[in-house]
Amino acid sequence: MLTTSQLHASLMDPVLDSLNFLNEIINRFPNAISFAPGAPNPTHLSNIDIGNYISKYVQYLREHRNLNQDQAQRLLCQYGPAQGLINDLIANALRNDKSIDVSPSAIVITVGAQEAMLITLRALFISSRYQLAVVNPCFVGILGAARLLNIDVIGIEETEAGIDLKRLEEACHIARQNNQPIRALYVAPDYSNPAGTVLTLEARQQLLDIAEQQDFYILEDNAYGFTSPLGEEIPSLKALDINKRVIFIGTFAKICLPGARVGYVIADQLVDEENGRSHLLSKDLATIKSMVTVNTSPICQALVGGMLLEYGGSISALERARSTLYQNNLTILLNALTRRLATNTSLMQAISWSQPKGGFFVRMRLPVAADMALLELSASKYGVLWTPMSSFYVNNGGTHELRLSCSYLTPPQIEEGIDRLAAFLQNITDHDIKRSNNSEKCL
Ligand SMILES: Cc1ncc(COP(=O)(O)O)c(C=O)c1O
Repeated sequence: MLTTSQLHASLMDPVLDSLNFLNEIINRFPNAISFAPGAPNPTHLSNIDIGNYISKYVQYLREHRNLNQDQAQRLLCQYGPAQGLINDLIANALRNDKSIDVSPSAIVITVGAQEAMLITLRALFISSRYQLAVVNPCFVGILGAARLLNIDVIGIEETEAGIDLKRLEEACHIARQNNQPIRALYVAPDYSNPAGTVLTLEARQQLLDIAEQQDFYILEDNAYGFTSPLGEEIPSLKALDINKRVIFIGTFAKICLPGARVGYVIADQLVDEENGRSHLLSKDLATIKSMVTVNTSPICQALVGGMLLEYGGSISALERARSTLYQNNLTILLNALTRRLATNTSLMQAISWSQPKGGFFVRMRLPVAADMALLELSASKYGVLWTPMSSFYVNNGGTHELRLSCSYLTPPQIEEGIDRLAAFLQNITDHDIKRSNNSEKCL
């Protein structure tokens, strides 16, 4: 008989269980309006002609790789190269659309961004001495991957400009003194999950300088960059990366379909070998990948490749086709919050929320703990779901914060959901005000 203590300690870590727990509550209250999932909007996933996209990619293979129909089709049905199949399409798109100029061989196509995180951490963290820094709060996927690999994580607080760079430098000094250097920093500079924060251009440049001075790598996660309002895009850290400090993690989950599980990592750092030769870090990541998932499904890569080709090979064109809906939903959500809450003076003294210009997420602060018990009350009595922020924090932060996602709902659902949320908030703040009045009387 096995006991939990005989299994890896990460299995007892609330981080690994947080998504399951949330899904369990969502399933228990199917009629609740859920601001919890950061999943793509269902309208983007209906009527996808999968066969047509795959055929488009097969045609591309015939024209650009000189294969006949049978050879091209067989390529999709066989095991494939660990490094990937659609690297050339992605490298072209990144060069033309994002000013990221890397060769196809610097890219590894992964099973979602999640695998990109896991294999990158595996390669960089050569001993348990090294620490991973993350911008706090941060995506649970990176926290979970670090936990699986026994990597210690240190949280660096956010600021209005994106990240507390002073604190980061101090943390680097302290970590080095303690012989536990920071090996890498994970950051999502564009409309992060969960906080929706954007790193200013100045902060990006300073961060790159600090990485060079303090000798760490930056894992840049770009999942929500595509939701930026037109004309307000800021160059990615990778586009500004003169010293090759940035390992860029991309995903097609939000702009194509998460079910394809296709992401990628750019690792164009040179690795010197003992024999005097050198190779790209991407080669090592592919080697690790070959022992994790062997290769990313060629059929799924063909599907994503075909979708890219449908948009003239442009990631930006594909992104624009998706981002309007999210921009719209976010505006509706923010307007609904203002309409339903901002006129209520007692509520406004107790709660506050962010005003992001893009991304999927609005962050709200409450006067009471936004924990699973409160979520259960919100779902059962008011029919509205949200995500507690505390599971996104390293070191017990965010206890009084919740995340509202605008991505999954229709505009009428958002309006109705905010009506329900307003009723819920009114009730809990009334209780809270009564409680604090009572405790004042006791004093
Ligand atoms: C910050 C962040 N990175 C990456 C992803 C997507 O990961 P994947 O490509 O593994 O679905 C998500 C999805 O929720 C995310 O929020």
